[in-house]
Amino acid sequence: MTNALITGWGMYAPERIMTNDDLSKLVDTSDEWIVSRTGIRERRIAADDETTTTLSVYAARDALAVAGLAPTDLDLVIIGTCSPDYLMPATAPLVAHELGATRAAGFDLMAACSGFVFSLATATAYVRSGMYRNVLVVGVELLSRFLDYTDRNTCVLFGDGAGAVIVSASDEPGGLLGLDMYSDGSGKEGIIFPAGGSACPTTPKTLAEGGQYVHMLGREVYKYATRQLAESARSALRSANLSVGDVDQFLFHQANLRIIESVQNTVGIPAEKTYLNIEKYGNTSAASVPMALVEAVAAGRIKPGDRLLMAAFGAGYTAGAAVVEWTADAERAFLAPGAQTRLGKPQRALAEVAA
Ligand code: ACO
Repeated sequence: MTNALITGWGMYAPERIMTNDDLSKLVDTSDEWIVSRTGIRERRIAADDETTTTLSVYAARDALAVAGLAPTDLDLVIIGTCSPDYLMPATAPLVAHELGATRAAGFDLMAACSGFVFSLATATAYVRSGMYRNVLVVGVELLSRFLDYTDRNTCVLFGDGAGAVIVSASDEPGGLLGLDMYSDGSGKEGIIFPAGGSACPTTPKTLAEGGQYVHMLGREVYKYATRQLAESARSALRSANLSVGDVDQFLFHQANLRIIESVQNTVGIPAEKTYLNIEKYGNTSAASVPMALVEAVAAGRIKPGDRLLMAAFGAGYTAGAAVVEWTADAERAFLAPGAQTRLGKPQRALAEVAA
């Protein structure tokens, strides 16, 4: 059977930083409250001329360069997002067009914060089935356009960003070893855009009530997320026939530091094996796991043969956990032309790599 491996990776975080102090000028909150309840110190906010497509394209260009592929090599583009450019059309065709991926089909995959894990699993299935050879997977979110900056319950949590990987056909072993994908629609009120869909179309009334923004039942989500993330992580490990001790790096959805710490305690995960960047980016939803992946690789924390456990929880409710054996040479990150060379480690100039 053809295998599917991650051969390229990239990320993009918008330049503008919004600190907790900046937010405390907009709503009744404080740096102390946000840091102690969530671990978030700042988040990135997209510029006015940036869209979910442009964020995706920056991350995707890096991923293509690392994989050594041209856009025309792509067969499929999957965009995991809940903050697309438009409700229709999907963002994936726009990303493919912008990249010049003229042969690629494209669709969006909506599983909120679990969007990247679900998309990675989907890409792997397409490649292992033999249907496609090169799939671009992007987890991207521009939630700042969907936040009510008068609602302190939500606006302090989220940020913008994108992370991308290329999943390619290979005869070598590795890649996805275990998976858990979980959905429970009874939790639909937990995190929701109440208006703008078929259940509640946009009207002047829904706009006046802010139905177009993220609404969240924070405590319920917290409780469900801590339980389900632990359950999904264990389930993915079981399906890989591995135990916690077999995993070299844990990449959790960065929604709340306390949620991650609770899952670490429940599952018995050593803190030093968990990559954290929540303080810099907040909750970037579907972008959070791939951004953590790209940074962990750049920081030298992931090497070929390492087993990674990626796990996310989000609106729906959805949860996804994937055990992945990493096979790529981390040094290839230096081939990326863009943002990850600024945000990640790379301490060598691109020219040195070319030499
Ligand atoms: N600043 C100051 N006070 C605040 C703020 C704020 N930004 N937000 C809420 N408060 C207040 C509340 O009003 C409440 O006041 P009250 O006691 O007078 O009613 C008090 O702080 C405590 O509120 P709690 O909700 O109990 O605070 P908690 O410790 O649970 O933390 C939080 C809230 C951070 C939202 C937490 O519940 C959480 O992280 N939940 C999960 C959220 C999450 O992960 N969502 C994303 C899922 S991903 C996706 O799919 C998009």
